[in-house]
Amino acid sequence: MGRAKKVVLAYSGGVDTSVCIPYLKHEWGVEEVIALAADLGQGEDLEPVREKALKSGASESLIADVKQSFVKDYAFSAIQANALYENRYPLGTALARPLIAKVLVETAEQYGADAIAHGCTGKGNDQVRFDVAVAALNPNLKILAPAREWGMSREETIAYGERFGIPAPVKKSSPYSIDSNLLGRSIEAGVLEDPATEPPEEIYLMTKSITNTPNEPEYIEIGFSRGIPTTLNGEHKNPIDLIEQLNRVAGNHGVGRIDMIENRLVGIKSREIYEAPAMSVLIHAHRDLESLTLTPDVTHYKRGIEETYSQIVYNGLWYSPLKAALDGFIQKTQERVSGTVRVKLFKGNAFIVGRQSENSLYTPDLATYGAEDAFDHKAAQGFIYVWGLPTRIWAQHHRS
Ligand code: ARG
Repeated sequence: MGRAKKVVLAYSGGVDTSVCIPYLKHEWGVEEVIALAADLGQGEDLEPVREKALKSGASESLIADVKQSFVKDYAFSAIQANALYENRYPLGTALARPLIAKVLVETAEQYGADAIAHGCTGKGNDQVRFDVAVAALNPNLKILAPAREWGMSREETIAYGERFGIPAPVKKSSPYSIDSNLLGRSIEAGVLEDPATEPPEEIYLMTKSITNTPNEPEYIEIGFSRGIPTTLNGEHKNPIDLIEQLNRVAGNHGVGRIDMIENRLVGIKSREIYEAPAMSVLIHAHRDLESLTLTPDVTHYKRGIEETYSQIVYNGLWYSPLKAALDGFIQKTQERVSGTVRVKLFKGNAFIVGRQSENSLYTPDLATYGAEDAFDHKAAQGFIYVWGLPTRIWAQHHRS
């Protein structure tokens, strides 16, 4: 008796997920492996990947193009939440996992599979995200994670694969571990494991080095409708085009590189490099538009929500009741976050240089220092008396 009969495997075409196929069948008694590769805009031709799964022993091999949903349902929500894990990482990898889990579960249901599988090891966040998301979407499905249990070294994994016709990687494989999709690239391992070492220029693909960026700034205008980016330089863009174009334009100015030590959910500190040009600019611009259109209390309260939201997404709780509740709050706040933000891209920076909104709460005759000033200065006196009263009373009692 195997651990499961029919399994849908999250498949990337790499050595680990390829070896998972014979491993599941021969070591764990799985009868049928259905491979599923998600197209998240990683910019790789997935047809050879699809074929490789079949050669590795999958009975069925599928490609799911989920780019549109990835941007609309995951990235745009994260922008509305100004989601940055530990204040820096725009969550490109973390946001993809619940979507992959969703198509895995849908495929399992469609094909009558009793389990899903993935190639994550036991050290990372992604295993948590897959396992918890699958459990949330269909708690009856089993979850198999061979690479978490097989205990094989890289060499042993390759040798195991070769026994089943899975070729060893031809080119000397990159010393880095890279996850890539429309929202950006996450790069770790190799020389990056020393937190004191500057990342070599070769790791970057989406962002230019500052020495090679244009010597003239470039102005762009991003239009938001209810917190969702909809236009670029006045032109309506579909979600995928908007992200792709902004990745190119901002990346060309070296915008969106992040080098950080982050705290994984499993307790490990890791050094990760990110490239996320579009997401970095969009969150920056969106937050600015919020400061024009939201009341002070909502703006301030939302900061705490954003922090929690970012942790929830990072920690694999996308399909959780708390996430759903926070979404309710965030959606309500976005009703009036519409307008345009002007951004100046220059030498690795995205400077916000202007913003406009029909819902702007900025009131010129209250803000001005000129003659049109409509603010009642005398009213400030009574306000300060009441505002400062507790402090005044405290001081009267405690003056030494
Ligand atoms: N640390 C990031 C996260 O947990 C990215 C991990 C992606 N994997 C990689 N090979 N760099 O979301």
